[in-house]
Amino acid sequence: MELKDKIVLVTGASSGIGQAVAIRFAKEGADVIIHFRKNEEGAKETQKLVGEFGVRSSVVKADLSVEKDVQDMFKQISAEYETLDILINNAASPTEFVPYPSSTQKDLLDLFNVNIVNAMLCSKYAMEIMKAQKSGKILNTTSIKGWEHGGSSVGYAVSKAAMNSFTRTLAKSVAPDIQVNAVAPGYVKTRVYDNQPEEKIKNWLNGTLLKRWVTLEEVAEAFIFLAKNDAMTGQILYIDGGFTLK
Ligand SMILES: NC(=O)c1ccc[n+]([C@@H]2O[C@H](COP(=O)([O-])OP(=O)(O)OC[C@H]3O[C@@H](n4cnc5c(N)ncnc54)[C@H](OP(=O)(O)O)[C@@H]3O)[C@@H](O)[C@H]2O)c1
Repeated sequence: MELKDKIVLVTGASSGIGQAVAIRFAKEGADVIIHFRKNEEGAKETQKLVGEFGVRSSVVKADLSVEKDVQDMFKQISAEYETLDILINNAASPTEFVPYPSSTQKDLLDLFNVNIVNAMLCSKYAMEIMKAQKSGKILNTTSIKGWEHGGSSVGYAVSKAAMNSFTRTLAKSVAPDIQVNAVAPGYVKTRVYDNQPEEKIKNWLNGTLLKRWVTLEEVAEAFIFLAKNDAMTGQILYIDGGFTLK
């Protein structure tokens, strides 16, 4: 798929990976819809950076763990844009609110709402548009933690393993018109690591074969690859410095 003039919705584009992905799609000439929840300043910064490539862009606000917000966001998008070519389900909480097993049922449900139900809801509404136009791509941000096991982050790992299953299972059910794939980043230096001790970070990075952070640009490039490639569906692309090769 040629990305120029395609319409792309990136959820969680107000910072980190989502912001880098939004900018990279703009560089390809795609029109970008920038979603945020709380960080309006970050979303506006993304829009400014996207604007440097001369593409059309909009900013949309929604708490994606609330279906009404998701519905309203898609209404707004449908009113403004004639189609939607690519949905990138990137918004999530990169950490657990209350680490398992201290978490209550509510803590766990809140986490799953933000990390997996949000993507299922966004995909549901995006698919209504994509099915009518008989084409579309859904790209999910999953994680190395969704692989065989997720280290100490039990709740987060479960949510990302669910994202992996969602990617593969949905790919089967919406083929051939819609392709569904995912990017699984390794350690990417976003705000989630801001207050982590140096020693911990060193240990995490030493657990990868390449002994370094994966860059935002390297992750964004993987989304571009999946968006352009028309032969892949149901795949999870690990951009992880060799973390999963053990
Ligand atoms: N950084 C890593 O090492 C790493 C590794 C593997 C996977 N990932 C995944 O990469 C994605 C992005 O994470 P990041 O590291 O870039 O972190 P980040 O900068 O904190 O980005 C998270 C984004 O998700 C949004 N968000 C959070 N809760 C939301 C909700 N209830 N409704 C709507 N939006 C919500 C945030 O929006 P607001 O700030 O505007 O509220 C923000 O834009 C996540 O899926 C994460 O699990 C990260």
